[in-house]
Amino acid sequence: MGIVGTNVPRVDGPAKASGAARYVDDITFPGMLHGRTIRTTIPCGRITDVRLEFDPAGFTVVDWRDIPGENCITHITDDQPCLVQSEVRHVAEPVLLLAHEDRDALRAARVHIAYERGQPLLDPLRSTLVHKRILIEQGDLARGFRAADLVVEGEYRTGHQEHAYLEPNGVIAVPEPNGGVTVYGSLQCPYFVHHALTVLLALPAEKVRVVATEQGGAFGGKEDYPSVIAGHAALLALKAKRPVKLVYDRAEDMWATTKRHPSIVRHRTGVTKKGKLVAMEIEVILDGGAYVTLSPVVLSRSCLHAAGAYRCPHVRIEGRAVFTNTPPNGAFRGFGAPQAQFAIEAHMDRVAEALGMDPARLRLVNALRPGDTTATGQVLGADCSAVAVLREAVRRSGWRRKRAAWRGTNKGIGLALFRHGGGFTGSGAVRLASRATLVTCERGVRILVASTEMGQGAHTTLAQIVADALGLPFDQVEVAVPDTAEVPDSGPTVASRTCMVVGRILERCAHEMREGLGGLAPAEHFRLHGPLVVTKQYEPPPGVAWDEDHYRGDAYPTFAWGCDVAEVEYDPDTYEVKPTKLTLVQEFGRPINPTLALGQIEGGTAQALGWALTEHVVMRDGGMANAQFTDYTIPTTLDTPRFATVMLENPYPHGPFGAKGVGELPFNGPAPAIVNALRHLGLDVREIPALPERVMEAARGRA
Ligand code: MOS
Repeated sequence: MGIVGTNVPRVDGPAKASGAARYVDDITFPGMLHGRTIRTTIPCGRITDVRLEFDPAGFTVVDWRDIPGENCITHITDDQPCLVQSEVRHVAEPVLLLAHEDRDALRAARVHIAYERGQPLLDPLRSTLVHKRILIEQGDLARGFRAADLVVEGEYRTGHQEHAYLEPNGVIAVPEPNGGVTVYGSLQCPYFVHHALTVLLALPAEKVRVVATEQGGAFGGKEDYPSVIAGHAALLALKAKRPVKLVYDRAEDMWATTKRHPSIVRHRTGVTKKGKLVAMEIEVILDGGAYVTLSPVVLSRSCLHAAGAYRCPHVRIEGRAVFTNTPPNGAFRGFGAPQAQFAIEAHMDRVAEALGMDPARLRLVNALRPGDTTATGQVLGADCSAVAVLREAVRRSGWRRKRAAWRGTNKGIGLALFRHGGGFTGSGAVRLASRATLVTCERGVRILVASTEMGQGAHTTLAQIVADALGLPFDQVEVAVPDTAEVPDSGPTVASRTCMVVGRILERCAHEMREGLGGLAPAEHFRLHGPLVVTKQYEPPPGVAWDEDHYRGDAYPTFAWGCDVAEVEYDPDTYEVKPTKLTLVQEFGRPINPTLALGQIEGGTAQALGWALTEHVVMRDGGMANAQFTDYTIPTTLDTPRFATVMLENPYPHGPFGAKGVGELPFNGPAPAIVNALRHLGLDVREIPALPERVMEAARGRA
């Protein structure tokens, strides 16, 4: 049929385009109440008194004493309370929940919280409370530095970033007659929420049901937070014995929910005169905020990408995620890899400058090649495309000509080479034991997975894989709503894993189903014999081994590769930087649906340009002071430059039809490419966002 590799229209497209698709705020239930969260306004201290300053008639009020199970949001650890008992660790921490049938009455209700204020810890460099430490060592660092002709040091910083999904966090909890609860919501990972609810509510698994509604974007922001908001709505619903809708407005969502981890990364690099990297000493510090949440795994991905796309015999990478009195930082597209690769890529241009060498040339000398070893001792195979993407980007962008011709003008050109590990880190994928199911139905076949469609096109690419593997017309494949009562746990929709990992399991299901059909079409087989069900579990590619205790081995089954070239115009009067063109060369195996893959690349690039240039989370006394789009400025269409995109194909033998993941890769390149273009202009910027005031500082220091 050849459906893979074609641009079939998306399965969720017609409903979304016509307005028929129902997002959580479009859904109502009879007798439904609305919920509201009362939050702390100080970053650190104790609650001494909570006083309701309204007539409670008609209200449902919930505090920590109403929690039937454990007062925690279970994830990697259990340190985060669902509702504050007395100790306050950050601004916007939930204390009290209210529900009422009238939204205006709910909004008008006043609650007074009295505090005993503590001294907040807001500077990650001063924090001695560590959520997680990681150490990666390879070779002999001292020997490496002895072999160096030159040592270059530098510190690079990145800020918070807000996900800015179109649809804020929202859920509806419905109490069930059996004493259980069903939660409908905008969420990436139904089974994460399911698990957290069983612990919070002390309910057996079968009494909790989680259904993913249509999702207006997530970007990692609905990986862990939905467990919080779902817990709140469920507590209200169980107490009120009525359905409760809890949907944040934009300001609350920006003020209270997770952000990208700010980072401070330090490099000390030894290099020979000819530009060969011989020693890399790297320190990665992530600001985790007030609770652990996902910081250990974000830090892990940071450290595993910290040496960039380069080979070096002597490497030491030391990372820590630290506590501060700010709302917890969480998952955000790239999951720590963009922060680490911003640093190495900005640093590589400073190394090139110190050597008097072309930055592309320096990268070509050191880029990882098949047979090379990463800092964890992972030997790369033919799926390593660093040199190929670099060469293509240099050629396509007219790098050499522009680099020479633009010297002394207000135009600059910069480049970044990067990679992204596909799927869960290390043995995580095996621990998840993801399962996917295919079942014959009236129309043909139905896909049962917990993987959610958040706008990225996952349900379409999965349907393409199944249609092609079964030799079916595309319209004979349907995708079930991710509902824990119906679908198996195919794992969370994160980590660039859905197409590559879940797609692969489904491809294996399709092959087995094909055998079982005995030559019949699935719809015909269904009419004659009823449903034919095939379930398969994840199997790691052969030879993949990871030692979690020593951080050695195959950190990821494969990496995707990219090289971005950014062209910018700089205004010496306003210090504004305008990206004019980006050349994006990316290798992620093989695109299942090139249009959707292009959407990931262009969308991820635009989002990264916001992080690089304009998106500035202003933290004041531990809380976001600009929780609104008037002064938290994300790029619009008018700010988005021309993209020249090349998808270099290098089919990956262990992905479905050769595919790797593409969701996060595109985020890694644009920010360093932009600051490297500024360096080409003589502007030394080492912290993003590169706001005009930071560029002004750099211009003052310009030689
Ligand atoms: Mo994603 S940042 O792995 O939800």
